[in-house]
Amino acid sequence: MTFHVRQPETEEEFKHYYHLRWKLLRAPWRQPEGSEYDELENQCFHLMAVDEDAQVIAVARLQFNSSDEAQIRYMAVEPAHERLGVGRRLIDVIEQHAIDKKCTLIVLDARESAIRFYKKSGYQTVEKTYLLFDEIQHYRMIKHLTNS
Ligand SMILES: CC(C)(COP(=O)(O)OP(=O)(O)OC[C@H]1O[C@@H](n2cnc3c(N)ncnc32)[C@H](O)[C@@H]1OP(=O)(O)O)[C@@H](O)C(=O)NCCC(=O)NCCS
Repeated sequence: MTFHVRQPETEEEFKHYYHLRWKLLRAPWRQPEGSEYDELENQCFHLMAVDEDAQVIAVARLQFNSSDEAQIRYMAVEPAHERLGVGRRLIDVIEQHAIDKKCTLIVLDARESAIRFYKKSGYQTVEKTYLLFDEIQHYRMIKHLTNS
C-alpha cells in the first residue's frame, strides 16, 4: 500500500477528512455527525493520509495550547490500513510542524488502546485523565521536542 501525507486543502477534502474523523472516533459510540468538530478547528494544523486512489485513510490534528506547547487530537487510521506505518508518519510530520512553530512540548490524551503506539514514537505517560463517553479511559502523554 502506498500512501502520502498532506494537509487537506479544498472544501471537498475537508469534508472527507472530518467524515473519517467522525466515522472512526465518534460513530462507534453513537455520537451524531457534527460531534467530531470543536471551536478550535480554524486555528489548528490538520493532516491526513491518502491512498493511491486519493481516498482519505487517516487523520490527525495539532492544536496550539500556548507559544511552546502543542497538542495532538483526533488521530485515527482506517482499520484496514493499521499497522502499516501510517500513524507513525502522521506523528513525524506533525512533530516537525510543531518544531517549525517553535514548540518544545507535545501533549496528548491517549486512549488506553493507543498508549503503546505513542510510546513507540517516544511519548511517556504522565497521568490518567478523563473517561470519554463513559467508557474510553484516556491517559495524558507528553514528549519534549528537540531540533536535532
Ligand atoms: C493508534 C493508531 C493511530 C496507530 O496507527 P497505525 O498506523 O496502526 O500505527 P503504525 O503502523 O504507524 O505503528 C507505529 C508503531 O506502533 C506500533 N503499534 C501501533 N498500534 C499499536 C497497538 N495498538 N499496540 C501496540 N503497538 C502498536 C506498531 O507496531 C509500530 O511499531 P514498530 O515501529 O515497532 O513496528 C491506530 O491504531 C488507530 O487509529 N486506532 C484507533 C483510533 C485511536 O485509538 N486513535 C488514537 C486516539 S488517542
